[in-house]
Formats: sequence, structure tokens, C-alpha cells
Amino acid sequence: MSRKPLIAANWKMYKTPAQAQEFVSAFLPLVAGHDRDEIVLCPSDTSLAAVIPAVAGSNIAVGGQNMHFADEGAYTGETSPLMLNAIGATHILIGHSERRQYFNETDEMVNKKLATALKHKLTPIVCIGEVLAEREAGHTDEVLRKQITLALTGVTPEDAEAIVVAYEPVWAIGTGKTATPEMAAEAHLLIRSEIARRLGRNIADSIRILYGGSVKPDNATALLNQPEIDGALVGGASLDPNSFAKIVKY
Ligand code: G3P
Repeated sequence: MSRKPLIAANWKMYKTPAQAQEFVSAFLPLVAGHDRDEIVLCPSDTSLAAVIPAVAGSNIAVGGQNMHFADEGAYTGETSPLMLNAIGATHILIGHSERRQYFNETDEMVNKKLATALKHKLTPIVCIGEVLAEREAGHTDEVLRKQITLALTGVTPEDAEAIVVAYEPVWAIGTGKTATPEMAAEAHLLIRSEIARRLGRNIADSIRILYGGSVKPDNATALLNQPEIDGALVGGASLDPNSFAKIVKY
């Protein structure tokens, strides 16, 4: 089954609206006409309103980095799916390890956010991954199985087609350490087989699984050439238009 690769930029808490616009101006010409991959930029909430009109009419989509699972409510500091829809965002990162680690996001919250994203037709990019101690203790498989199972609880095969999963080993994020292409592919296989067990082989074969964790222009090709790796979720190297464009054009 052919899956269209997706290359997503997670800018985390970087870039003012002006800097985000500057990125887009430099980046657009570098990837104009590139339609092999789906390209998504995930700026901070304060830059969404600058980036969405700046990419209008191009081959680039825009997503949020986090949202609440409620449609609206008294949740100071949060962004709702309705707000993302209204502004023209089409994708949403869910359960990034930094949300789990610093903001106490649990598997249950990830599951609720996933259901909310599907309800509001936002393409969810659900992040899972083991921490170093779990890998060293030989618990990677168990951790990934548990995270994907809890994330997908209650999801029907019909809804599941829209889901994108990102495998981000936490020890590889921002550290310069990358999973080898073989290690990443092995984790992707395991995640896909768990999805197949829950939702059926056809759905599992259609869901894109991205790799994230120190993806750079010089390692993107080896990672993305693995048949199990359907794209990348890029942090640090996505902040520079030239380096992100090189990754898009691996
Ligand atoms: O979501 C992307 C991410 O966490 C990886 O970050 O800086 O290691 O590419 P980085």
C-alpha cells in the first residue's frame, strides 16, 4: 500500500509571528511544486494567524502543537479545536513527549484529544515513544504497545484512517542522538502490528507513521528510505528554511 509521506515541522516555543513569516517567505520558493510529500508547519499558537495566510494557496498545511479536548470552556491558557478550525489549521500534534513530561499529559488525555481532533476533522499527529531508561531496561515494545493502545481506545476503523502516528524516542529528541534507521523501522513495525491487531490490517497499512528525534538533512534520507517510515516530525532542523527544505526533498 502506498502512503504519501508527511514531513512536519514542530517549531515548539520558537519564532515570533514576524520570524515565522520570514521563514515562510524563504521556505515557499524552496519547496514550490514539491508534491511527493505532504508538508505541515506547526508553529506556536501566537504565530498561527501569521503563518496560515502566508501559506495560503501553497502546498503547505498548518497545524497546532496542542489543544484542549473540550470544545470550549473555562480552561485558562488553552486552545480549543473550534479555534483551530476557525483559524484554518488542519493538523494537530497530540501527546508530544514534552507535553507528557512537562505538562503532565497522560495517555488518557491523549486519547480524549485524539477523539476531539477526529470529531473536528483535524488531522491528529499522535506522538509516542520510550524514554532512555525504558529502552535500556528492554521495555520499549511494552511502552509503545501501551501508548498506542491507550491512544486508540474507542477509535473506530472508519475514524482511524485519518490518524498519523509519530514515533519519537524521547532520548533522541533534541539530543543529536538518532535512532538508527533499523531501530526506527523496528519500532514502526511493532506500532503498525499493534494498530493492525486493534483496527485491522488494512487500516494499519494505510496509517502513516512518522519518525521524530534529531532528524537532520544528513540523516533524513537513510531514515525516510526505510519502507516502514512514512515521514518525519522535525524539531530543531525545521527552524531553518534551508535545512527543513533539504529534509522535505530528501
Ligand atoms: O516533535 C519533534 C521533535 O520532538 C524532535 O525534535 O529537535 O530532535 O528534531 P528534534
